[in-house]
Amino acid sequence: MSLMSTMPDGSYDAVITDPPYATGGTSSAARAQDPRVKYQSSTALKYYPTFANDCRDQRTHLMWSVRWMEQALRLTRPGGWLMVFSDWRQLPITSDALQIAGWTWRGIIPWDKTECCRPQLGTYRNQAEYVLTATRGGIDKSVRLCPPGVVREPIRARDKLHLTGKPVPVMEHLMTILPAGSRILDPFAGSGTTLVAARNKGHTAVGIELSSDYHRIATDRLGLVLPA
Ligand SMILES: C[S@@+](CC[C@H](N)C(=O)[O-])C[C@H]1O[C@@H](n2cnc3c(N)ncnc32)[C@H](O)[C@@H]1O
Repeated sequence: MSLMSTMPDGSYDAVITDPPYATGGTSSAARAQDPRVKYQSSTALKYYPTFANDCRDQRTHLMWSVRWMEQALRLTRPGGWLMVFSDWRQLPITSDALQIAGWTWRGIIPWDKTECCRPQLGTYRNQAEYVLTATRGGIDKSVRLCPPGVVREPIRARDKLHLTGKPVPVMEHLMTILPAGSRILDPFAGSGTTLVAARNKGHTAVGIELSSDYHRIATDRLGLVLPA
């Protein structure tokens, strides 16, 4: 938020982001566990660094979400977009937060991760996450597009560089509504998936990432050279 506060009003056409969900488990003790324990099977073969800000309780997660979403609103031009990921547990709190922050809620794009997700016997396969969409005020009526409102895309190991990394094609799909050459902000950039998708689609993007491990992974992925 300190970096966002230095950026001018209306500098972006869209904020597309995947913040920490602060979810996992049905009890507060389960949610307070390290994300590597919550989000990865103990038999997983790949090592991913952990990340911060994923252990908040419901009330502080709501207030924290409102605070960064208010900054995101200020940084987005009128008619621009917020697209924010959530899971089923945090869906109500996330839709509350964006409306409290002043965004106009436009709906939910379910991301169907397909049947390759971890099954849990005795209940339905939990194979979807959700992208909440909102605009700063009215939608841009000059856009003559109506892209599909559901995206079905598996997680592929070669495309996953973060513990909770999202597929590049999902991010690219979210960008189909944006005008050519849009400016995109991802304040929770992780391994830089949004930035890769933006580059593939011909947009420009800025990412902010707290973890030095993921900052390095993202800059390597993008082929960027860090200042000494
Ligand atoms: C769910 S992950 C994003 C993963 C990303 N979509 C990808 O595909 O790699 C959320 C990220 O937000 C970062 N984060 C948490 N708090 C932050 C903060 N206050 N400022 C910037 N980044 C933060 C975490 O380090 C984590 O990498």
